[in-house]
Amino acid sequence: MVEPCTFIIFGATGNLARTKLLPALYHLDQAQRLPDGFSILGFGRRDWSDEDWRQYVCEALEGRVRGGVDEEVRTRFRARLRFFSGDLTDPQAFDRLRNTLDESSDLPNKLAFYMAIPPAEYAEVSQLLAGAGLSNEEHGWRRLVIEKPFGYDAESAEALDERLHRNFSERQIFRIDHYLGKAMVQNVLVFRFANLMLEPLWNRNYIDHVQITHSESLGIGGRAGYYDDVGALRDMIQSHLLQMLTLVAMEPPASLDADSLRDEKVKVLKSIRPITRKAVNAHAFRAQYAGGTVDGERAKGYLEEEGIPSQSTTETYASLKLYIDNWRWRNVPFYLRTGKRMAQRSSVIAIRFKHPPQQLFRQTQIEKMHPNWILLGIQPQECIRLQMLTKEPGLEMRVHTTQLDASYCGTSTYHTDAYEDLLMDVIEDDASLFLRYDEICWAWRVVDPVLKSWTTERDFIHTYPAGSWGPAEDVRLFDRDDQAWRNSLYDED
Ligand code: BG6
Repeated sequence: MVEPCTFIIFGATGNLARTKLLPALYHLDQAQRLPDGFSILGFGRRDWSDEDWRQYVCEALEGRVRGGVDEEVRTRFRARLRFFSGDLTDPQAFDRLRNTLDESSDLPNKLAFYMAIPPAEYAEVSQLLAGAGLSNEEHGWRRLVIEKPFGYDAESAEALDERLHRNFSERQIFRIDHYLGKAMVQNVLVFRFANLMLEPLWNRNYIDHVQITHSESLGIGGRAGYYDDVGALRDMIQSHLLQMLTLVAMEPPASLDADSLRDEKVKVLKSIRPITRKAVNAHAFRAQYAGGTVDGERAKGYLEEEGIPSQSTTETYASLKLYIDNWRWRNVPFYLRTGKRMAQRSSVIAIRFKHPPQQLFRQTQIEKMHPNWILLGIQPQECIRLQMLTKEPGLEMRVHTTQLDASYCGTSTYHTDAYEDLLMDVIEDDASLFLRYDEICWAWRVVDPVLKSWTTERDFIHTYPAGSWGPAEDVRLFDRDDQAWRNSLYDED
């Protein structure tokens, strides 16, 4: 049975808490996964009573929980909510917080601290917590949950890690990459390691290349301040896309415990061929969305978005070609791309196989042999598909592309959000879906040379129309003419 704890949210009235954390906790409560006595303490600057916070949370849940708010669950959930008014930079607020926790019998003394605050404040808050004696585990566990981005580059990530470790041990730190909480991302492991038939094919002898695409039709929304400093490479590729790559490429782990899994992921990241400064243009591409049309409506260009400097060359689209120099993958290109304001919201891992060694059907009506693909749809459509060729019925030798669907492929109505899984793991002390520092460090090393080069070359950036599949010019990343971005789960190549 899970032990009751106090889940403290720093940044309680921010966007992440409102849109992700509170709905996820509500869903866990609805699924009867939260123990009696589990409390949620919002830490914020507003001068609010518990009742103000409860009302705020109930309003935030409206329209954000599956199937609408259930009266009984809401009553139970409301009773778990407490508010603490304090300033994140004030040491005395942390002393008061400790006293409140010591004195309130309804706030269990096992504590999870969730940093739903700007990254620049992580180190400071962890220090203030420790200063008030709140990192000390004498009377119950203490866990610190850190959101991405973890640092701004390899150097700043190391500095942040060093500061966190002054007061919290590695065991206490949970670094979130919410992609690891997505059902289909976890399914990559099941798909690979629970199905023996794939393993002999999963290597450089049979696989031509791998593509990982994350596209969004939305723009940067109200996040100009954050996004313009960060850009697409840091925002998505350094974290989520590289994590997906490690799951596709890793060796079978010794077991599914946290360290065995992470050891294998780190090996993949360490084996990625470094992109030298001279090779940046051949391996990386960046672009920015210009005005265009999305869902039939005119969409602004990035430079017209509120809060974006008119000269900004921050990339809203980034693509990379990577090679993993190990026995399994040497010379198989892994193409990664992500972009805002693209034609569709879609995350897909697409694995293309090589052509059969002999074109046996060349003299028939089969004009072109299509290679096999395995398609792992991460979102919005969750699916596993195998694309292959079969003969059409009839006298002629004609083939067409067929797709074998495995898994639920959109038929399941059972959906959970990544945060539900991850928050439960924090409460249950399961770190397997959280990042160890060396993973983050190696992921920064992969992208750092590109970031450095882009930072110094700030005078020009390609553009693509909002609502398109991105800049046409990045075909230059592909090794051969028969490789191209795959935009759909249904394409027939
Ligand atoms: C976040 C990025 O980590 O992931 C956002 O900061 C991005 O820019 C988001 O939109 C995508 O997550 P999801 O779960 O909506 O695919």
